[in-house]
Amino acid sequence: MVAKVIPVEDFDLVIFGGTGDLATRKILPGLYRRMLSGQMPKTSRIIGAARSEYDADAFREHVHQGLKDHVDQSLLKKRDVDAFLGQLDYLQLDIFTDDGWKALGEMLRGDVIRAFYFSVAPSLFGEIARRLVQFKLADQDARIVVEKPFGRNLETAKALNAELAECFDEKQVYRIDHYLGKETVQNLMAIRFGNALFEPLWNAQHVDHVQITASESLGVGGRGAYYDKSGAMRDMVQNHLMQLLCLTAMEPPSKFEANAVRDEKLKIIKALSPVAPNEVVRGQYSATEDKGSYIQDSENPESDTECFVAMKVEIANWRWAGTPFYLRTGKRLRNRLTEIAVVFKDPPHSIFDDTGTHLRGNALIIRLQPDEGITMRMTIKDPGPGGMRLREVPLDMTFAEALEGEDIDLPDAYERLIMDVIRGNQTLFMRGDEVEAAWNWIDPIINQWVEKGSKPIQYDSGGSGPDDALMLMHRDGRRWREIKQ
Ligand code: BG6
Repeated sequence: MVAKVIPVEDFDLVIFGGTGDLATRKILPGLYRRMLSGQMPKTSRIIGAARSEYDADAFREHVHQGLKDHVDQSLLKKRDVDAFLGQLDYLQLDIFTDDGWKALGEMLRGDVIRAFYFSVAPSLFGEIARRLVQFKLADQDARIVVEKPFGRNLETAKALNAELAECFDEKQVYRIDHYLGKETVQNLMAIRFGNALFEPLWNAQHVDHVQITASESLGVGGRGAYYDKSGAMRDMVQNHLMQLLCLTAMEPPSKFEANAVRDEKLKIIKALSPVAPNEVVRGQYSATEDKGSYIQDSENPESDTECFVAMKVEIANWRWAGTPFYLRTGKRLRNRLTEIAVVFKDPPHSIFDDTGTHLRGNALIIRLQPDEGITMRMTIKDPGPGGMRLREVPLDMTFAEALEGEDIDLPDAYERLIMDVIRGNQTLFMRGDEVEAAWNWIDPIINQWVEKGSKPIQYDSGGSGPDDALMLMHRDGRRWREIKQ
């Protein structure tokens, strides 16, 4: 059973691109689940706005199919589905003509929160923002939600920020990075700042290194042509991995509040050292017997876009100087796994005889997916006779086991973020200066590749990426955690 929660305030949510893939797969199923939990007021309305020649009934039918495809069957009771579909409306809209905007004005109610979700190509952000203002559809309290990719470099991100800033105040702009909506990402802050245990050790004096892995088992599949214009650095590192790095490395904010948290993240991004070319490895997966290579999936035989990146990152500040952060992400690897491993230094002196076994230091592993939880790698005595031999063991806790039996309402990332938009809470959204600072750091890395004509290294599908990525750590006397089957 899903727990009942307090409803957010009444709202009208307009989804531009309401018939598109993201709306169908994530946004609308997410809203359905929020309705089931009792968080979405019964009077709230969701208006799909798109070019498709639908009327409201055809849109409802489209959304209904999306629910069948993307929501657990057991949650699709007819009464609930009908209630949700009843809250939907549709507007066929060509954003470049006036009529549709006037019609939208007539559909919106005056006395509720208005949120506008731009689930469209970034090239349309500016036009939609201007039209909302021109037709007086967005007051000071209205919110706009924009998706990644937020630009493809510093210049384009600045231009997008400027276009939005002409029409909206920064406190109205919600830039989504869905990783920030993941339960364990927030748990990372709870673990760091809600326990006195870790923070005294959370620095270069005690931490040997940090490794952040976001490994995916799927290839680029059906979105290869789109993905090929982006690549792993833009698609995953500039946003998701950078956010994980920031939350792991930032100073404690004075409050868990939007600008306090974002100020601290920004300081980390600005403290990142430039990355030397030999500290980044890029790759492309090769074909297997039954699956195509990246080159085939991207439908671009000449492609030199990477779908794997591993890199060593240094943070030039007092807390982290000398403790590298290693980041790695890739498609078609052995398994789907996202985790942050904080690896502590060895004890300063061993009182035990050298047993010939080299034990690794303690590590705190925060697992975002698949089974969210934390593991502490500890050293204990190997049980039984035979003297004092040591071994490593995991002190393992999945959140599902730890909280077993409790009636927990766990919204997925999009659900949580959309509800935060309605609540007016920007803590889990990227601020404009953060996004620009991230591009400012990433751009020189990508530019070097372009200037040098660098080619990604081929790696075996189903493995852990190119050998050069292993070498990146080996040469520092360290190794990646295994991506297990
Ligand atoms: C998206 C990327 O932002 O995140 C995808 O565009 C990637 O390429 C996805 O697959 C990963 O998200 P998650 O939540 O499945 O880890």
